[in-house]
Order: sequence, then structure tokens, then C-alpha cells
Amino acid sequence: MAYNLLKGKKGIIFGALDEKSIAWKTALRCVEEGAQIVLTNAPIALRMGEINKLAEACDAPVIPADVTVTADIENLFEGTKEHFGGGVDFILHSIGMSLNVRKNIPYTNSNYDFMHKTLDISAMSLHRILQVAMKQDMINEWGSVVALTYIAAQRIFPGYDEMADTKAMLESIARNFGYQYGVKKHVRINTISQSPTRTTAGGGIKGFNGFIDFAEKMSPLGNADADQCANYTVTLFSDLTKMVTMQNLFHDGGFSNVGVTQPVIDQMEKQ
Ligand code: NAI
Repeated sequence: MAYNLLKGKKGIIFGALDEKSIAWKTALRCVEEGAQIVLTNAPIALRMGEINKLAEACDAPVIPADVTVTADIENLFEGTKEHFGGGVDFILHSIGMSLNVRKNIPYTNSNYDFMHKTLDISAMSLHRILQVAMKQDMINEWGSVVALTYIAAQRIFPGYDEMADTKAMLESIARNFGYQYGVKKHVRINTISQSPTRTTAGGGIKGFNGFIDFAEKMSPLGNADADQCANYTVTLFSDLTKMVTMQNLFHDGGFSNVGVTQPVIDQMEKQ
């Protein structure tokens, strides 16, 4: 059901790779709620061609940008300004990639070139996007920026490894830039800490099926799925949440506040 929560708003969605992507679902929901959007992803991801389906469904242009390249972000924002005839009201950062995890390198043996790249793609990119946005005055007054994160930033989940450190940095950038952009232009910046979700990035984590099943059992409401994450993000882009900023918001069916649940106790007692 649509509520017109984003009527008249314009935004940029980073990170829609395929139909499973959280960004894909969010793009569709934003348009359903009345927004106009620009889609972007790394040139290599665009070559897979899937995003054109989404672009058609959303009536949105696609502008390539590798988030590790400042000139790409500048070009993306210039193209977006041209398309909309002005700035945007919201930005979704739904970007993640860990080279050490993908290459199955144990955390204690991390390759630092890979770690640099991981930090650059998955955390510093938020800083880079916001810095270029501020310089180009890309985000309108009372705009909203959301980045996606995971609870491994606060607690240990073996296998999530360097991505945990990366998410801690991402959340910190959201707070720091949230302060600066709030003071300067009432722009709010938050992270959503999402339940484990079956997507390309999620599936890259070793033992991911175990993560999902465990989280499901440990969450009174069960795991939040990608569609529900898209709904939550829409509320953060809407005018209903204007005073929420610099927060890490758990969207996880209650997982983050649970010590143990009865189903987990039962399972342990069976063994
Ligand atoms: P996904 O694989 O569909 O999305 C990741 C996106 O990052 C892809 O579209 C990819 O092309 C993009 N990307 C990678 N390198 C890039 C670069 N250099 N420049 C521009 N874009 C680049 O997976 P998913 O799960 O939708 O991930 C979205 C966000 O949600 C990520 O930040 C992820 O860490 C986060 N998240 C995912 C969870 C999960 O279990 N799937 C749980 C909690 C958070």
C-alpha cells in the first residue's frame, strides 16, 4: 500500500545490483511513494545489465559511479542536478564489499591492500559522497541520508571479520557527518542496522545460512526482510522523521536487545 510519503521528493539510490538487493526494493518503494529517483552503481555492476529492468520500472536514469572515485561522484551529482533541475532530498548508501572475506582470507591474516579497498568501498564512500554533496550543495534543506549496516559493528560474528570494522567506521562517519550536515543544512544522516538478508553481498559471508537461522530464532519478530527494510527506509526519507539524525537504528525484529530466546534454549537442551 502506498501513502504518498515521498510525493515531490527526489533522490539517489546507490547499490541496486539485482532483484534481491536491498537498494532494488528500496528504489521501487520510493517510486511507489511518489519519489523520482536516479539510480547508480559501479560500472562493472551495470555491465551485468540487470539494473536496466529496474530503471524502466522506476522511470529513472542510470548514472554509473564507482564510489571509490571522487570524479565519478562529482559526475553523478552533476548529471542528477541536470536531470532534476536541482538537488535531491534523499540518498541511499547501500554499498558493501569485503575483499578479504570474499577471498576467504582469515581475519588474523588480513591483506592490508584488500583491507584498504574494503574500507574505501564500504565506509569511506559514505564520507566521499557526503563531502562531494556538501561541496556541490547537492542535498536540499531537511534532506535525509541512509546507509545500511550490520550489528557486527558492535558484537562479534565470526566470518564477518573486516566488514565488522568497516561497518563500525561507517556508523561513525554517519554520526560525524550527521553533526556537520545537520548544523549546515538540517540534513539528517542515519544508519539502518538490518537483519541478515539473502542478497549477493550477504551470501558472500561464510556460514551465512547459520547467521540467518540463528538470527531468526533470536528475534521475537523474526528476521526483517529486504522489503521491510525498504519500508523503514522510506519512513526515514519522509517528513515524518525530520528530527531523527546521527542514529544507528536497528531494524532486526528485536534481535539486538535479546540475550537468549526460548527456541534457542530448547535447541541447546536437545543436544
Ligand atoms: P548487494 O550485493 O545487492 O548490494 C551491494 C552493492 O554494492 C552492489 O550493488 C554493488 O554493485 C555495490 N558496490 C560494490 N562496490 C561498489 C563500488 N566500488 N562502487 C559502487 N557500488 C559498489 O547486497 P545487499 O545485501 O543489498 O547490500 C546492501 C547493503 O546492505 C550493504 O551495505 C550491506 O553490507 C548491507 N547489509 C546487508 C545485510 C545482508 O545480510 N544482506 C545485512 C545488513 C546490512
